[in-house]
Amino acid sequence: MAPKFELRNGQKMPKLALGTYLSHGQDLFNVVDKALSVGYRSFDTAKYYENEKELGDALKELLPRYDLKIEDVFITTKIFPYSGENALELMTKDINQSLENLGRQYLDLVLIHYPRPLDSGDKDSRNAMYRKESWLALEKLHADSKVLSIGVSNYEICHIEEMRDYLTIDPAVNQVEYHPHFQRKELREYCQINNILFQAFSPLGRGNKTLLNDSTMVRIANTHQTSVAVIILAWIMRGKNGVVAKTTSGDRAGENFKSVTLKLTDDEFARINELDLATPYVEDRGWEVL
Ligand SMILES: NC(=O)c1ccc[n+]([C@@H]2O[C@H](COP(=O)([O-])OP(=O)(O)OC[C@H]3O[C@@H](n4cnc5c(N)ncnc54)[C@H](OP(=O)(O)O)[C@@H]3O)[C@@H](O)[C@H]2O)c1
Repeated sequence: MAPKFELRNGQKMPKLALGTYLSHGQDLFNVVDKALSVGYRSFDTAKYYENEKELGDALKELLPRYDLKIEDVFITTKIFPYSGENALELMTKDINQSLENLGRQYLDLVLIHYPRPLDSGDKDSRNAMYRKESWLALEKLHADSKVLSIGVSNYEICHIEEMRDYLTIDPAVNQVEYHPHFQRKELREYCQINNILFQAFSPLGRGNKTLLNDSTMVRIANTHQTSVAVIILAWIMRGKNGVVAKTTSGDRAGENFKSVTLKLTDDEFARINELDLATPYVEDRGWEVL
């Protein structure tokens, strides 16, 4: 029902996840309900979104209605690196809190949210040290079986290469902004060659009109009698990339899930590959971080 990728450690991860940034309360509950009903089995949250508990509570109430257990869904959360010397202590506290929020014995995937701490500047020369301490803390939490897979987000090639000096576990995932107008060819190929699942966030450019009204994709969408959103998601997965798409509309959650079965032709896939404008549509700019 929900097609999956295999991560480098053998763990299976659904190709399409429901994003939850800025989703809260009844909106979050309703869209999770609809998402489960149409087949989503993966949900993306983060400490920063302050909705882990709302997501956990919604799943606790809704999963039995679909005869599902909490282990039947894949949940990703993210933690910013910490500045200072007690990253392990703080991240352990975070992970324990996430386990409680989400009603789990373990977390499926935890990502370092960004290549620098929230309270550090992009050009702070200590960022590399903060990344190292936070990664080593995640490795420890993985060894303690609290987290099945660990990965990164908004990391550039340089940030991943730097990890080679100290890592004992390679990142399983790099989650970054990716869509037809921002194709990240070099980073994506690097991730694929290194068996790091490249996972797209903001695949719809957070509702960006230039992207969603792109005339080439409108024509392709018309051929398939669907929306440009569905075409974008199908194109991302066809390129062997994971994707996290957000909506607070139950109808759009249902529509977007059709992307997992939509088949683009080789020609359509190639035409979308030509649409790169090298233009990000959201504010996360990992490439600016030292
Ligand atoms: N790791 C990171 O740093 C990071 C950064 C950003 C995002 N993320 C994750 O990725 C998720 C997705 O990214 P995002 O929320 O930034 O943006 P997105 O998924 O690209 O776009 C969401 C926007 O698109 C609209 N939309 C959804 N389906 C649509 C459809 N079928 N037709 C037209 N519009 C549609 C939604 O409006 P409606 O709600 O009205 O449908 C919403 O405004 C986030 O929620 C979060 O989980 C991670």
